[in-house]
Amino acid sequence: MDSVSTGISIKPYARPPQGSQPPSLYEPYRATTKRSPREPLVVLPHTLSEITGPIFGQDKIGENDNDLTGQHRDEPIGERIVVSGRVFDSNGRPVSNALIEIWQANAAGRYRHIKDQHPAPLDPNFSGAGRTLTDEQGAYRFITIKPGAYPWFNHYNAWRPAHIHLSVFGHAFITRLVTQMYFPGDPLFAYDPIFQSIPEERARQRLIAKFDLETTQPQWAKGFKFDVVLRGPEATPFET
Ligand SMILES: [Fe+2]
Repeated sequence: MDSVSTGISIKPYARPPQGSQPPSLYEPYRATTKRSPREPLVVLPHTLSEITGPIFGQDKIGENDNDLTGQHRDEPIGERIVVSGRVFDSNGRPVSNALIEIWQANAAGRYRHIKDQHPAPLDPNFSGAGRTLTDEQGAYRFITIKPGAYPWFNHYNAWRPAHIHLSVFGHAFITRLVTQMYFPGDPLFAYDPIFQSIPEERARQRLIAKFDLETTQPQWAKGFKFDVVLRGPEATPFET
């Protein structure tokens, strides 16, 4: 559908600037050699199907969905943290009612997943998944524990920097964002091909949360801020 058939004027989203997003093929990140397209991409116009998307309601969100430390009988082991931030569109306007889903390893760096069998303990009090909706100001907040780094098989002695996976449904299908949030000062950044696959240093920095004393709670939890920008020149890099 286009503006002629619907009567609605379609404003296309800006394309990301060169170097701000990882290429779909980045050989040091081995999985991309199998799943990246072999042919040049076909650039599709933005029509009504692309600039609209699903709308989520509060009724889909459970009481402890944004508190990953409160989903079981006892608290999980680990360093308790508060991760909060705001979601913005390409014009810097807050995106309200956006569904944010997160998933992560536990404090020992182990996922509760059949594929993760490395010798680190599972935590019976930690599932590692949460979700929430942004409020009127585009703000969100999760309580969780800091994930541990974990080994993977990409190359010799490969370890992922500690990270939390995020999926954000914007207001349109093309503003859906899947990415990873990292923690400041991680010594593994220099060795991580997923982090390094983003060409621009400035764009890589957008994936690192900031320690935040304002949201740090005395005697209880450290605060980290992570803002997300959906599309536009300052867009948060997408995970390949
Ligand atoms: Fe991961």
